[in-house]
Amino acid sequence: MMNYLQTAACVVLWALIGQAAAGCFEQTNCTSCTSYSGNYFFPCTWCPMTHQCHTSGSLYNDCYRHVYIPTPELCPVEDSKPYNQTLAAQIAQWAAMAYAPHTKIDPKVLSKVLRDQLPGNYKMLKIIQRQCDLMVNYSACTVLVAMSHQEKNIIVSFEGTQNMDQLYEQFITTALAGLANTRIGGQVLFYNENLQKLLYPCLKSYLEEILAAYSNYTLTMTGHSLGGAQAQIAAATLVRERIISTDKLLVYTYGAPRFADVDFVSIFDKLVKTNWRLIQARDPVPKIPPSYYLYHTHGEVWFSTPGVTVNSEYVICTDNEDESCAWSQGPRLCFTDECVRIHKNYFIKDMGYAFDEQRLGGPRRPNRSKLGECDSLDFSEI
Ligand SMILES: *[C@@H]1O[C@H](CO)[C@@H](O)[C@H](O)[C@H]1NC(C)=O
Ligand SMILES: *[C@@H]1O[C@H](CO)[C@@H](O)[C@H](O)[C@H]1NC(C)=O
Ligand SMILES: *[C@@H]1O[C@H](CO)[C@@H](O)[C@H](O)[C@H]1NC(C)=O
Ligand SMILES: *[C@@H]1O[C@H](CO)[C@@H](O)[C@H](O)[C@H]1NC(C)=O
Ligand SMILES: *[C@@H]1O[C@H](CO)[C@@H](O)[C@H](O)[C@H]1NC(C)=O
Repeated sequence: MMNYLQTAACVVLWALIGQAAAGCFEQTNCTSCTSYSGNYFFPCTWCPMTHQCHTSGSLYNDCYRHVYIPTPELCPVEDSKPYNQTLAAQIAQWAAMAYAPHTKIDPKVLSKVLRDQLPGNYKMLKIIQRQCDLMVNYSACTVLVAMSHQEKNIIVSFEGTQNMDQLYEQFITTALAGLANTRIGGQVLFYNENLQKLLYPCLKSYLEEILAAYSNYTLTMTGHSLGGAQAQIAAATLVRERIISTDKLLVYTYGAPRFADVDFVSIFDKLVKTNWRLIQARDPVPKIPPSYYLYHTHGEVWFSTPGVTVNSEYVICTDNEDESCAWSQGPRLCFTDECVRIHKNYFIKDMGYAFDEQRLGGPRRPNRSKLGECDSLDFSEI
């Protein structure tokens, strides 16, 4: 009798689980999956890597545990503006320009470079620099602001990692300090948050000033590598603090690493609708830190052949860690000279040194005593 009851209970349980699984598997998108109400005991979760809906706890779930999406609020947003590769190639010039040594910059040389090399008739408005080293001795970190009346657009570009000292510091602070809370919730790498604390207040107050005069201009935020992570954190914060509306904001980044936990990414994905992360094959930086630790934002543009040009073919993935994009090559890292060169080359051969020949500025290490409270070079256009 007991055996019979147990068997019956098992059969009923299996039937319930089976039915629950079937209900989940039929859901084909994140919203319908996570809001599916047919499963009381085994709610459905969405896997943004495989685009499949699973019952929670399912054995057939090959999604990495931390990337399950359990509720509709955490589903990625629809991207509001489609990816535009011509534009991506133009914005890459700005991501590169943030690396140029800006000490003692000659405004005449700068305007000539902008006129001759970049479309849109942009004028540099401000270059904000702050002393940003925590342990070792390197120079300032930079964010620049430019504007085009022709395009009715403002560009903000964050500088990436300048040298080995700064790179070591990122590895060491990540190992020692890990993550830190952001202004808007969730956590990002301690090094990134420290940099935001320095640069964001200066950027915010300046953008408030410009947007008061040009309230219907769009804002494009960019950066390469570390600069790409910085641009994304600042973009989400500007939307949350109502400095810019998400419909007027475009974020294009190049070879940016993972930098945020799943909570920050969920907040980001809600706030920033148009976010395109360009990643090319064999670039090691977007694969670090590994995905069991941190998580990419939505909106990936994947180039399976390295050496991105304006004519390169690409794949678009709207989800965060999608197996059709960079994940198609697995987590294996390549740090050979060639792979490092690939990382530095998005539309431009060596983003960190692209504007050196034009002699845009002075020495790479600026006068440290001049890197205080929101110090900046002004080009007073407005
Ligand atoms: C998601 O799936 C549901 C049910 O399958 C469907 O009705 C809905 O239109 C889909 N939404 C999107 C954005 O594709
Ligand atoms: C893409 O961007 C370029 C450069 O800004 C622009 O001229 C072109 O019209 C855009 N294409 C589309 C389809 O929006
Ligand atoms: C940092 O580097 C600068 C320029 O190379 C040098 O003048 C300065 O003495 C260094 N400071 C420290 C604390 O090592
Ligand atoms: C932006 O504002 C100006 C003047 O305030 C107005 O003439 C123009 O039509 C606006 N453009 C858009 C796209 O809203
Ligand atoms: C650095 O700035 C300080 C204060 O403005 C100045 O006294 C010093 O001469 C500057 N050093 C260099 C090398 O420009």
